[in-house]
Amino acid sequence: MSAMQYDPDKKTPPADITRRNFIDRVIGVAGTAVAASIVYPVVRFLLPPKSGEANVNQVKLPFGRKEIESEAKKAKTFRFGRLLGIIVLLPDGQLRALSAQCTHLDCTVQNRPDEGVLWCACHNGKYDLDGKNISGPPPRPLEVFAVNEVGGDIFVSKGSA
Ligand code: FES
Repeated sequence: MSAMQYDPDKKTPPADITRRNFIDRVIGVAGTAVAASIVYPVVRFLLPPKSGEANVNQVKLPFGRKEIESEAKKAKTFRFGRLLGIIVLLPDGQLRALSAQCTHLDCTVQNRPDEGVLWCACHNGKYDLDGKNISGPPPRPLEVFAVNEVGGDIFVSKGSA
């Protein structure tokens, strides 16, 4: 048996594992853990998460025309990837889909069939039913989406409306 091997009968640690070495290793492991706990959140903050919803160009609405018609405000909101959309029943019976996020500070707009406008309650911003900003602080029109009804399904897509 060599001098460096552990002899269980003597119940003594090998010569290269001293108390100082052991403490140095524990401190090294603890220091690595502390460094990782600091670096990992910073890296996660700097790298945006992958989003499977970022490039959505078309959605099938989880409701149909009857549900929109039965709403008191003749409109319903829907998720469009990371966006929130609103689909509105126009006075002539057509459906129009737009971004529901006000271009001022991103509050959700709502249909006001009594006034014939889309209204943002946050700062009294108003849009016409084509999405054009007509009064209040909104600086830009709402994005308008294309609507296609196929059978009883409603598909909303980006692109020309
Ligand atoms: S957020 Fe809509 S008007 Fe200000």
